[in-house]
Amino acid sequence: MNKGPIGIFDSGIGGTSIWREINKILPHESTIYLADSKNAPYGEKSKEQILQLSIKNVELLIKKGCKLIVVACNTATTNAIKELRATYKIPMIGIEPAIKPAALHSKTKTVGVLATKGTLTSALFNNTSEIHANGIKVLDQVGTGLVELIEKGEVNTAQTKLLLKSYLEPMLSQGMDQLVLGCTHYPYLIPLIREILPNSIEIIDSGEGVARQTKNVLQQFNLLNSLHYDDMEHQFFTNGDVSVLKSFLRDDKVSYRAQYLDF
Ligand code: SIN
Repeated sequence: MNKGPIGIFDSGIGGTSIWREINKILPHESTIYLADSKNAPYGEKSKEQILQLSIKNVELLIKKGCKLIVVACNTATTNAIKELRATYKIPMIGIEPAIKPAALHSKTKTVGVLATKGTLTSALFNNTSEIHANGIKVLDQVGTGLVELIEKGEVNTAQTKLLLKSYLEPMLSQGMDQLVLGCTHYPYLIPLIREILPNSIEIIDSGEGVARQTKNVLQQFNLLNSLHYDDMEHQFFTNGDVSVLKSFLRDDKVSYRAQYLDF
């Protein structure tokens, strides 16, 4: 039993999609979320820069008393989790594009992956892709500019839709029947993606799987909060615009505190 918070970090507000899944499956757990919006997007940075930013976030979450850390960013996971796990004792959960279920579900044997340049060029992504894409064609597409638009709160705009179309339509014409969202910002684009792609195309993101894995690891390390059900809290820290962060939490029914922090 441990009533300490689960720490979650992302290059910005995208990881709130993961925080939501975690909160759904683990409603009695406190959380601390770091939105490193000042440094978004991570996807255009070098592996060394992504590692240094991830270390800064992990150290802050450890200082704040977190019992487990969720790296709610595909770019940080694929570029830094190996080094983070080798350096820190705290249990860590990462997120990677869900190639495996997409490959298993695909009837056309063609899977599209929309992710950042940092994720798609990482060794971890390419190894996973090779293992699971047995006989499957994987169409990689870098979502240049999408994270920047989402970070500005431009989720449902004509510009975002136009950009998305330019990425999705070529994959569609090559026979994709599964679209893997390989960036935690992209689930916020699902309504727009649905307007562009036919319903027969399955959209796969990794949020639910990450939440389940978080629960399993807490159980395994005997870290679940099984006694203090009344005093859990959710704290959000951003080094960007607090009002944008809050706008991504506006439909969530849980109470939380969100504030600016220079980290
Ligand atoms: C980014 O910061 O470039 C995107 C975050 C992600 O890969 O999930």
